[in-house]
Amino acid sequence: MIDLNNPSGHRGSKRRSRVVLSLGLSLASLFAVSYTVVIWAQNLATDPGVRGIAWCTSCGPSVGGFQSTLTYQEQTSEPAATTQFGTASVVTCSSSGSNVTGCGLGPRFNANTCSSCHQQPAVGGSSPSANPLFQIYQSDGTDQFNNTMPSFETASGPVLVPRLPVSAGGNGLVQELFTIAGPSYSSCNIQQPNFAAEPGLVFRQPLPTFGDGYVDFIENKDITNVLNSNLSLKTSLGIGGMENIADDGSVSRFGWKAQWRAILPAVGAEEQVEEGITNEMFLTEIDQTANCDVNPVPEDPTNYSYCEESGGICQSTYTPWFFLANAERDAYFVRFLATPVPSTVTNGSTGCPGGNINSCSNGQLEFNSIGCALCHNPSYITPAGSIPSQGHTRLNLYSDLLLHHMGSCLADNITQGNAQGDMFRTPPLWNIGQRIWFLHDGRTSDIVQAIEAHADSLGNGPCTGVGSYPASEADAVISSFNNLENVTGVDGTAQQDLINFLRSL
Ligand code: HEC
Ligand code: HEC
Repeated sequence: MIDLNNPSGHRGSKRRSRVVLSLGLSLASLFAVSYTVVIWAQNLATDPGVRGIAWCTSCGPSVGGFQSTLTYQEQTSEPAATTQFGTASVVTCSSSGSNVTGCGLGPRFNANTCSSCHQQPAVGGSSPSANPLFQIYQSDGTDQFNNTMPSFETASGPVLVPRLPVSAGGNGLVQELFTIAGPSYSSCNIQQPNFAAEPGLVFRQPLPTFGDGYVDFIENKDITNVLNSNLSLKTSLGIGGMENIADDGSVSRFGWKAQWRAILPAVGAEEQVEEGITNEMFLTEIDQTANCDVNPVPEDPTNYSYCEESGGICQSTYTPWFFLANAERDAYFVRFLATPVPSTVTNGSTGCPGGNINSCSNGQLEFNSIGCALCHNPSYITPAGSIPSQGHTRLNLYSDLLLHHMGSCLADNITQGNAQGDMFRTPPLWNIGQRIWFLHDGRTSDIVQAIEAHADSLGNGPCTGVGSYPASEADAVISSFNNLENVTGVDGTAQQDLINFLRSL
């Protein structure tokens, strides 16, 4: 774990890397014998820790702000959008259509506002250092609930959203953690899932939304071009890739499995799945048990009747966001967010862990040359945009937005569209320097371990896959990453340079 109070992060706690070679003999399974050779290698790079917290405190958020190119109309819409993303919802709506107060929570929910899960290092981001669910599971400030906290949520861990795969007897969908049953809604008799009796549960942590407004725009043909580029090199390294395809045939791109094509449907799903708020994309409650559905649906409709009030009187100065439902306001907030900026751009040498900017530039070269960039594609350029602020922009997102087989150690056994149980979308790495937890289930806070976990053939556990999956497409690249332990770099090894580069993002 990264100690957020330890300014030196993992530095000083020298560890050694273990490369385990398992020899699968045909008789091994018969006699339940396996042969394991452990080779100890020196000098595994250390994670300097969270940028702006563990090192270079002046290198904190250069995210969370809005695009400098927003039009006047966009700027006028932004405050209402920002307010909405951080507005906590209560259960009961006072009247249908009065959604701007934030209501419709439950009957099943994970949290009561977008910003509880999306707030590191700024609103819109990822899971914060203290798990926000502990603040709301028994009360949202207005209503009291009977919930208990599942044991997989820890006070100093990431928010984890559970699913029970079909292979473990579930339906593969999100299982909301909490219910509104309790003192405030005593005639609602639904129970929390019995998580303790579900050994096959798998988890996902929040993804940051910075820069997503631009990612929305990337053209399908550009993603397909990346899929079809460097084919002989990729084949020699075992790297493939697949598009998750949306209903209109375009490349779906948001979420850990690229299950959402655009911000708006992602937000509609998030409002419904995480908060239980019905909206114009998801109109009926997930749980329709009598006495638990306390509001007319959808709870978050277009604001036909809303007017900007002052002293109880409807004002005539209408603003562009006048009619928007809350889901659309949330989508505007995400759409307007600026792209993350590396700390080497804002802080020069001090923005590179270790204080030498050459370490980060060398790290970026190594990242490209050993093949990380074959999946973590350094950049896309957006086409001309009818929303002028988002056209013709180079996005240094470090993702191909494609799905890859990641092996049985990362597999979550969940299928979504083309994404199979062992497939994940290459996550963008912009802002990875400020992330506290890594990988879809937040299994580690050590970025070096997150990289090691890409390779199932190297015996990197814990393994969450059930059944047999092909080898991880990243195996060969991670072997090259391990070889960088023995290559001299600027800050010790070339591997350390690569890690420093990532933590500057
Ligand atoms: C309980 C925690 C939680 C809450 C509350 C929450 N989210 Fe999320 N968010 C997540 C998780 C987990 C994911 C990843 C989901 C997946 O891929 O299955 C995610 C993913 C997203 C994404 C996709 C980001 C990307 O780049 O792929 C967007 C957009 C998003 N959330 C917006 C919202 C909005 C808007 C709200 C409020 C209406 C919200 N979220 C509320 C946990 C949460
Ligand atoms: C075959 C494609 C592929 C290659 C090659 C690859 N990655 Fe990844 N990377 C992924 C995928 C897919 C994930 C998400 C896996 C998951 O969450 O289970 C990921 C996750 C990550 C994460 C964590 C991101 C997050 O949001 O938590 C980091 C950091 C990372 N990769 C760095 C690297 C580095 C450094 C290299 C080169 C040594 C590399 N990757 C090579 C596909 C790849």
